[in-house]
Amino acid sequence: MSESLTPPPSAPQTVPEANSYVPPKWRTEPRFPDGPAPDPAGSHHERRIRSFQPRRSRVTTGQGEALRRLWGTWGLDIDGHEVIDLKALFDGLPVVLEIGFGMGEATAQMAAADPGTGILAVDVHTPGQGNLLALAERSGLTNIRVANGDAIILLREMLAPGSLAGMRVYFPDPWPKARHHKRRLIQPEFLTLAASRLAPGAVLHCATDWEPYAEQMLEVLTAHPDFENTRPDGGFAPRPDFRPLTRFEGQGLDKGHLVHDLLFRRSEN
Ligand SMILES: C[S@@+](CC[C@H](N)C(=O)[O-])C[C@H]1O[C@@H](n2cnc3c(N)ncnc32)[C@H](O)[C@@H]1O
Repeated sequence: MSESLTPPPSAPQTVPEANSYVPPKWRTEPRFPDGPAPDPAGSHHERRIRSFQPRRSRVTTGQGEALRRLWGTWGLDIDGHEVIDLKALFDGLPVVLEIGFGMGEATAQMAAADPGTGILAVDVHTPGQGNLLALAERSGLTNIRVANGDAIILLREMLAPGSLAGMRVYFPDPWPKARHHKRRLIQPEFLTLAASRLAPGAVLHCATDWEPYAEQMLEVLTAHPDFENTRPDGGFAPRPDFRPLTRFEGQGLDKGHLVHDLLFRRSEN
């Protein structure tokens, strides 16, 4: 009997449909049961330039434990589905949004020093979320909520116009390379969105240790019709006593960087 020379039928080929992007498993699977979702609004795949790089970083045992245990009570996934009732979430306290709290040490200190203000602290950084939850619990703080996801989605989809008593952006990623400048958070488009969510008279407080970014911040904030500088001289502000040194700031100071604060008020009109 002669053997058939016909090759065996090959396995059926699956051709991916156009735009059928399947994100890698680590971006979609929750690592902490009942904890933060990896990308709650799917914003990492939105066709938009983001101010952060999605990354998976090491979470310590303590941070993971805090995420599992405390997320259900103090955490909030930014899924973009509905407008948050800030009054209900913070028992009627005025609410300040902090964008990019990093490891959250400064956030916890500010919340402890001012229990009459609620802090809605947002970041995409999972270890930092766990760290801040643990710090808040240790100090018995009840005026912090930790939001997980992109601050742009939070502002755009989940915060009502005029609902914020203030906004803090401390040491946003400086994106020093020219080709990355478009990723910087403080840009005219962001300021228009931020202004719409701030109550008239509320202050946007930015700080950076990256000189060219400080200059850019001053330029776009000064030019923006919805903001006015709280400094009569139209320049940078000294660090106010209520802002503690942040972790990122400490690293900048160690490198000899100069730090600039900017405090701009949402105009009343
Ligand atoms: C350079 S770190 C500064 C952290 C902290 N404020 C400090 O001074 O130590 C900037 C932080 O902003 C976060 N971030 C950047 N863009 C963001 C966005 N669109 N939404 C939420 N967090 C963002 C990053 O994940 C990062 O943790």
